[in-house]
Amino acid sequence: MSTTPSIVAEHIDRSFSSGKTRQQVLFDISLSILPGELTMIIGPSGSGKSTLLSALSGLLAPDNGTVHALGIELSKLTASQLDTFRLENCGFIFQGFNLFAALTAQENVMLPLNYGPKIHADEARQRSKEALEMVGLGSRMQLRPLELSGGEKQRVAIARALVKRPRLLFADEPTSALDGQNGQIVVSLLHEIARTRGTTVLGVSHDNRLIKHADRVITLEDGRVVKDQRASHIPETTA
Ligand SMILES: Nc1ncnc2c1ncn2[C@@H]1O[C@H](COP(=O)(O)OP(=O)(O)O)[C@@H](O)[C@H]1O
Ligand SMILES: [Mg+2]
Repeated sequence: MSTTPSIVAEHIDRSFSSGKTRQQVLFDISLSILPGELTMIIGPSGSGKSTLLSALSGLLAPDNGTVHALGIELSKLTASQLDTFRLENCGFIFQGFNLFAALTAQENVMLPLNYGPKIHADEARQRSKEALEMVGLGSRMQLRPLELSGGEKQRVAIARALVKRPRLLFADEPTSALDGQNGQIVVSLLHEIARTRGTTVLGVSHDNRLIKHADRVITLEDGRVVKDQRASHIPETTA
């Protein structure tokens, strides 16, 4: 397994101002995230998890400190270079599934392929099919969101995030709209993606039940890292 971190944050701080008050949300956070692993950031609501994920994925600039992703210092990029970087390297999965109701599962998954380098329609169909097979929906590709369960919808959203084969996959509360069993399925799928593709998968959750699938669990409290544990009960990968 590669030991070169794919994301490195050093001493990041971040505050938000509203009116006269200024609230510091992240305090001096330094961490390195490895490829081929599912890293979960957990912590109570309001502890800064989403803010940290945004900072690590370049959606939000820290006030102090640096973030390197795939060796690139994100603050050195212009807004359009950052857009290109995210388009080429990052997949995002959020709590709501954000699927288009009028489109089939496969059409939803093909959408991101319209951005970036042009690819042939046949290849787009093939890639979207592979992504849907990876999440176990190969036989349900022609269904529309209304015909799918919540767990299936989130798996479509994962397939859509995978279709461009991103090296970095970010998931903010990907299971919060799901029941416990579907939540477990989704998180074990994220783990499998990390293990089989070498993708860096960084997930955020307030649900402690999901950490058993993670290779590493980082606990955030009041904007500080208070724990950083490797899950020793997860079998070593052979890669
Ligand atoms: N864009 C924003 N503007 C102002 N305050 C924000 C913004 N985003 C987050 N916050 C505040 O920062 C704190 C941490 O938020 P967040 O990172 O969303 O926590 P979590 O994801 O752990 O629930 C909260 O108090 C929240 O209100
Ligand atoms: Mg959040």
